[in-house]
Amino acid sequence: MEVILTEDYNEMSKISAGEIARQVRKKPNSVIGLATGSTPLGTYKELIRLHKEEGLDFSKVITFNLDEYLGLPPAHKESYNFFMWENLFKHININPENVHVPQGMVEDAEEFCEWYEKEIEKAGGIDLQLLGIGSDGHIAFNEPGSSFGSRTRVKTLEEQTIEDNSRFFNSIDEVPHFAITMGVGTILEARKIVLAANGKNKAQVCARFIEGPIDSQITASALQLHPHAVIVLDEAASSQLKRKKYYNWIRDNKHMVKKYLGR
Ligand code: GLP
Repeated sequence: MEVILTEDYNEMSKISAGEIARQVRKKPNSVIGLATGSTPLGTYKELIRLHKEEGLDFSKVITFNLDEYLGLPPAHKESYNFFMWENLFKHININPENVHVPQGMVEDAEEFCEWYEKEIEKAGGIDLQLLGIGSDGHIAFNEPGSSFGSRTRVKTLEEQTIEDNSRFFNSIDEVPHFAITMGVGTILEARKIVLAANGKNKAQVCARFIEGPIDSQITASALQLHPHAVIVLDEAASSQLKRKKYYNWIRDNKHMVKKYLGR
């Protein structure tokens, strides 16, 4: 894993957006996996700026979102469909036909999940997957104990996740208990992964998944198995890491890294 330590949320967002922009410039019809939550908001703001001010072209980009609450229609203001249109899609030149967000109101969720997996495959697989992390270490909605081989499926949300996400709802009772989520196995198949995390409340879990053992109780630790995962942290989220000096040395000596590792 490449661990990039940044000063603050702004720099974390710029670096994460920069990774996506680089991918889109290199391959205009890239397949990009997208995430929701408060973490990627700055990343999406920066992508919108890059589109408006620097002409970053999304017209051929195909997107797949990680997850959606089961039981929320796309127009519900806390649905991830709504979030994505409000915070990114409506501000860029993406073709709506190229947008895929799991649907929360499907009749047959199992059939839908199979279809979603096939659509990812048909698109040629995900080139770059953006991720956040839940305070219990989940990626997408892969709660503790999720199999590292899991595919898109329905998942029951953990109490901690329901509590964390209740800040967006009128009351905790409104938070759905189920979601459709890409599996850990689905995520690990992306050719590149960028996980962003910020804030003190993510410090402990970041230290665990980056420097601790691979553990299905912290599903983000599955990224240790990925050959091309980039972790971008703000100062608060990185505060409990032990090897900060090492990560900073690599960042400060990029020219050498480029010479020997070719990136
Ligand atoms: C939700 C999403 C995750 C996200 C997590 C953290 O549970 N399913 O994809 O990473 O929240 O959200 P935040 O960025 O708001 O901390």
